[in-house]
Amino acid sequence: MTTTPVAPSSTPSVAPDAAPPVPDFGPATHLTCRECGQTYGLGAAYACAECFGPLEVGYDHSAVTRELIESGPANMWRYSCLLPVAAYAGDERNLNPGLTRLVRADNLARALGMTGPLWVKDDSGNPTHSFKDRVVAVAQSAARRLGLGTIACASTGNLANAVAAAAARAGQDSVVVIPSNLEDGKVLTTAAYGGILLAVDGTYDDVNRLCSELIGDPLTADWGFVNVNLRPYYAEGSKTVGYEIAEQLGWRLPQQVVAPIASGSLLTKVDKAWRELSALGLVEGSPYRVFGAQATGCSPVAQAFRAGHDVVRPVRPDTIAKSLAIGNPADGPYALDVVRRTGGVIEDVSDAEVVEGIRLLAETEGVFAETAGGVVVATLRKLLATGALDPAAETVILNTGDGLKTLDAISSHVGPTATIAHDVDEVTAAIAAHHARTGA
Ligand SMILES: Cc1ncc(COP(=O)(O)O)c(C=O)c1O
Repeated sequence: MTTTPVAPSSTPSVAPDAAPPVPDFGPATHLTCRECGQTYGLGAAYACAECFGPLEVGYDHSAVTRELIESGPANMWRYSCLLPVAAYAGDERNLNPGLTRLVRADNLARALGMTGPLWVKDDSGNPTHSFKDRVVAVAQSAARRLGLGTIACASTGNLANAVAAAAARAGQDSVVVIPSNLEDGKVLTTAAYGGILLAVDGTYDDVNRLCSELIGDPLTADWGFVNVNLRPYYAEGSKTVGYEIAEQLGWRLPQQVVAPIASGSLLTKVDKAWRELSALGLVEGSPYRVFGAQATGCSPVAQAFRAGHDVVRPVRPDTIAKSLAIGNPADGPYALDVVRRTGGVIEDVSDAEVVEGIRLLAETEGVFAETAGGVVVATLRKLLATGALDPAAETVILNTGDGLKTLDAISSHVGPTATIAHDVDEVTAAIAAHHARTGA
């Protein structure tokens, strides 16, 4: 293995012939290029010096057992032995995300004509109400190890919440960069945590390019962009969604999973988690199919899937599912690989279907999803209608965020049954009118 250690920015000066100190990344041993396989030492590196391919964390997992995990805390740090973090990472000031509920969704299954068990992995229960708290927790730990004092990000909204809150909790500085057209439920909540919040006139892809340009500028010498120069670590945080599903099912894998796609990272990491658990013998390596969900107004990966392409052609997003509005998804080709390898499908759904998906999940299970969750439920329905997804197989769908963040999406579709005076007769009349209208 060739390893070229990447020095952290705060590395103290060392004698010329002494190796730089290696930060404690727990079981992580190196970074590998996903394209050419070149390996590197652990550091704030994210692109291969040889071919510019993305870097991924590699491990020595020999010490992992079910008992070790089960004896851990009731949050994502129980999987520290599978993440690029020091054993003590969970004891440092952070939001302690994870171990969100896995909800058995019998009513939704019935409404959709499914006969197999259906589950919702409900990540709206995280501290800032999306799965992004998981990825930030790992990236924040990496920033500490690498001596980066400020955490920063380019965000479609949920990551903005997670970075600003995690920095506040740790007493760190944060710089969050977002497109200026995001929902109030993302912008105001991020601002409430303090830190610097920059709203850019442009799309997420413009924001992401700007952040890439900022890396290398002296202004950002002390910054860890969680989803840019800390991306190899950040992305590993999404594996905890996969670990939890397996553990919550009693150390089993489901037969099907439906995941939303923005950059494509979450979907690929759920698959990586399940492959790791199978390889380590922590679950039986039973086959599963991974399905991807996008909104039609930003569906570059679904389009590439349908066309049989390996490359993803960038699009300009136009959808109410703003959290998924990445027109040039960094992990799109890898998401395609996972879905094709496992025999899944990637579908996209209209904004009207997204709203119906949000309402169906709320009305059947009492789970109020962000637009990304609406995309997933609507995609599940479509996959059932086309026969792509087996209604009899055990299925998990991911609800990655809280509907309170995207009220705008449904505000013109739901409201009070009636607005009435403080009067019993008006209650009676309103209920009668409601029954007449709905036939219920
Ligand atoms: C709520 C929500 N779900 C899913 C995703 C998709 O994540 P990924 O970029 O890992 O595909 C995002 C990304 O921002 C998100 O905010």
